Amino acid sequence: MKKVDVLLGLQWGDEGKGKIVDVLTPKYDVIARFQGGPNAGHTLEFEGIKHVLHTIPSGIFRKNAINVVGNGVVIDPIIFKREITALDKLNVNVSSTLKISKKAHLILPTHRLLDAASEAAKGNSKIGSTLKGIGPTYMDKTGRNGLRVGDFLTEKFKEKYTFLKEKHEQILKQFGAETVSTEVENEWFESLETLKRFELIDSEQYLNNKLKDGRSVLAEGAQGSLLDIDFGSYPFVTSSNTVCAGACTGLGVAPNRIGNVIGIFKAYCTRVGSGPFPTELFDEIGEDLCRIGHEYGSTTGRKRRCGWLDIPALNYAIMINGVTELNMLKTDVLDSFDTIKVCTQYKVNGELTDQMPFDLTETVEPVYIEMKGWKTDLTKFTNGDPLPQELQDYIAFIEEQTGVPISVVSVGPDREQTLFQNVSSITV
Ligand code: GDP
Ligand code: IMO
Ligand code: MG
Repeated sequence: MKKVDVLLGLQWGDEGKGKIVDVLTPKYDVIARFQGGPNAGHTLEFEGIKHVLHTIPSGIFRKNAINVVGNGVVIDPIIFKREITALDKLNVNVSSTLKISKKAHLILPTHRLLDAASEAAKGNSKIGSTLKGIGPTYMDKTGRNGLRVGDFLTEKFKEKYTFLKEKHEQILKQFGAETVSTEVENEWFESLETLKRFELIDSEQYLNNKLKDGRSVLAEGAQGSLLDIDFGSYPFVTSSNTVCAGACTGLGVAPNRIGNVIGIFKAYCTRVGSGPFPTELFDEIGEDLCRIGHEYGSTTGRKRRCGWLDIPALNYAIMINGVTELNMLKTDVLDSFDTIKVCTQYKVNGELTDQMPFDLTETVEPVYIEMKGWKTDLTKFTNGDPLPQELQDYIAFIEEQTGVPISVVSVGPDREQTLFQNVSSITV
């Protein structure tokens, strides 16, 4: 029986997961998203096309693979329909290659309104949510009130919808917020019809049968480990388990069926929305990272906060996820820097530590080492080109600090700008 490889983000999201899933899809039979929803924005670039996916797995542009939206995902039918329309325009035939779990939960228009009302009420301590209704939808899931894709096939669907909407309206009234317009509600119901174009499946059965038949599966994570509901910088997190264990619950795959865990990280760090970020830069260097890396959110267009690579945070994410190989993205963004800093430890209350403190919002002072930049344009590099010595040193330093090999170095947004590393000599 085959195992499921898991690909996930090790920082605060937007590490480049979509790009690498697209690059790896030719190796897999099935790509399956396991959590999150349209708060995600996964960008793919190839043959002059730049495309952002929110709900649909990033294997969708490759003809060889089936793409599954797993039970752990929350779906907004309106956004889903827009994604399908965009793919239709590009003549990507998804009708037979995209399947959706009946157990995935639906984001109602009132979930979005609740998200906005809850954020507004928080004032200065707001999470910086993408306002896609993610938190309220997962709250209804764990509160056992949610509506699932499979409910849509039953007669009681409208009744269940109305019950939940009325409950939401009461809460919205308490917030003093407006309720949903008939227009949006109609659009939501119309958009549900788009879901009907696809096979709605018991995805846990489907995936386990595929594994039994010797098919290979790649689980695609959304967000990043530092946004995980349990292990992220709580409360400035998302509402799902973004870590590897989330692939088990979000797909119905047993822990002993997990194979390789591919941890995606940027050669530096970014964060969008509120919350602690120990290595954040408020100076010109931070601005340079933002400008060169085009660090603006793929979903909301918000400016991403930027800072140096954070090894204690990376090691924490590697530990929680059981990462077996690392992929370093956006390496080219550092091409012009004379020196590059890496945070190797934190100073908390005057004490040096390698560990993540309970509350990252405490005063955490990063301790840096400085490395020489490679001052080379990496974007034209192809596989087999010898890497500049300074970059080799940067890679070796990260591998030594984490104990995990870097198997991919990404040097641009395009599919082709992907350098595979020979990692056979490194012991994990
Ligand atoms: P995801 O959410 O993890 O899939 O990442 P996003 O798509 O939100 O953000 C990553 C951004 O960086 C996208 O605009 C990608 O096109 C871009 N990108 C990915 N890899 C590279 C790279 O190696 N170099 C550069 N310059 N851009 C990259
Ligand atoms: P991908 O998959 C970056 C952040 C939001 C906010 C917090 C909670 O593209 O990496 P939510 O909408 O979930 O209630 O927002 O999490 N966030 C992301 N940041 N990339 C993402 O997804 C994110 N999804 C949510 O900015 O701080
Ligand atoms: Mg993103």
